[in-house]
Amino acid sequence: MGENLPVIEVYDLKKYYPVTRSFADFIFRRKREYVKAVDGVSFTIRRGETLALIGESGCGKTTTGRLVIRLEEPTSGKILFEGKDITKIPLKKLRPFRKKMQMIYQDPMASLNPRMPVGEQIAHPLVVHGLATRKEAREIALEMLEKVGLTPSNEFYARLPHQLSGGQRQRVVIARAMALKPVFVVADEPVSMIDVSMRASILDLLQQFKREYNLTMLFITHDIGVGRIISDRIAVMYLGKIVEIGPTEQVINNPLHPYTQALIDAVPSIVRRKRMKKIRILGELPDPRNPPQGCRFHPRCPYVKDICRNKEPELIEVEKNHWVACHIYS
Ligand SMILES: Nc1ncnc2c1ncn2[C@@H]1O[C@H](COP(=O)(O)OP(=O)(O)OP(=O)(O)O)[C@@H](O)[C@H]1O
Ligand code: SF4
Ligand SMILES: [Mg+2]
Repeated sequence: MGENLPVIEVYDLKKYYPVTRSFADFIFRRKREYVKAVDGVSFTIRRGETLALIGESGCGKTTTGRLVIRLEEPTSGKILFEGKDITKIPLKKLRPFRKKMQMIYQDPMASLNPRMPVGEQIAHPLVVHGLATRKEAREIALEMLEKVGLTPSNEFYARLPHQLSGGQRQRVVIARAMALKPVFVVADEPVSMIDVSMRASILDLLQQFKREYNLTMLFITHDIGVGRIISDRIAVMYLGKIVEIGPTEQVINNPLHPYTQALIDAVPSIVRRKRMKKIRILGELPDPRNPPQGCRFHPRCPYVKDICRNKEPELIEVEKNHWVACHIYS
């Protein structure tokens, strides 16, 4: 496979969750409501590339990540993995794809079995996927522990998750995912529960695997500073939609969408060169059951115009590979 072929292609992906109806809703025949967690998202990630998906809590980042690797059924849209349409493949037939697509979650404790030695947790999936015998799997697990800096590896192999620090546990989770030599990884806030002093080294570790395995990654974070360190491109999500997407330094140095500008202004360590006026957004994320008409950001936008209240802006390419959905640019 060539260097720059797309590994992941997502077209107009949607996930609507039905809201549980109350007895009164039923009696009064109120229309069923939906949380539009992901509402028409499209992007491509090429081999070896990391796309950071950024946005505040509840905007649909995790749902997008889970949809892409088919841990969640999409309401509509299309997902291609290495050019193959995997949108409709029944869950039973996803096995061959499962080992190629791994997910790393925020809370390593929750993704580990508390009663199984961590080394065995790395070895076990290798046996399950038929990639190694028990003996070989043990050797690979020891190698992986070494690789993620948990040495002496034979000592760490036998430890239970609670006998490790949070950062060490996340290293185990990364080792377990990487042992399968995945093509694509969704990392969902992998450092947000880790002590600040350990974050940089965990990000380094991911970068190291990215280089070594030419890994393709969707890196989910609410922290644009973290996203900047790890990614080649950034996608900013707001209420189920991508509002800006482009090469990382371009988005950081020349953020086009008022929401992206506000996210960057909230990070003191990023000094913006081009625009001096700082933006602060007001209020909370609106109810995802009833997203605002027109531009979903309009109730919080300092630049709102009449058109913003009625017409939804489409993504347009403002500079090379740098897209934004905002009427200011149309
Ligand atoms: N299984 C579910 N059933 C119903 N609603 C859901 C479900 N999963 C997520 N949602 C809703 O979908 C929206 C998006 O959730 P999601 O977890 O994708 O957001 P997020 O951007 O990952 O947030 P966070 O930063 O807090 O992790 C939220 O309003 C959430 O309540
Ligand atoms: S479309 Fe209008 S409301 Fe939406 S971000 Fe742009 S200026 Fe603000
Ligand atoms: Mg999430």
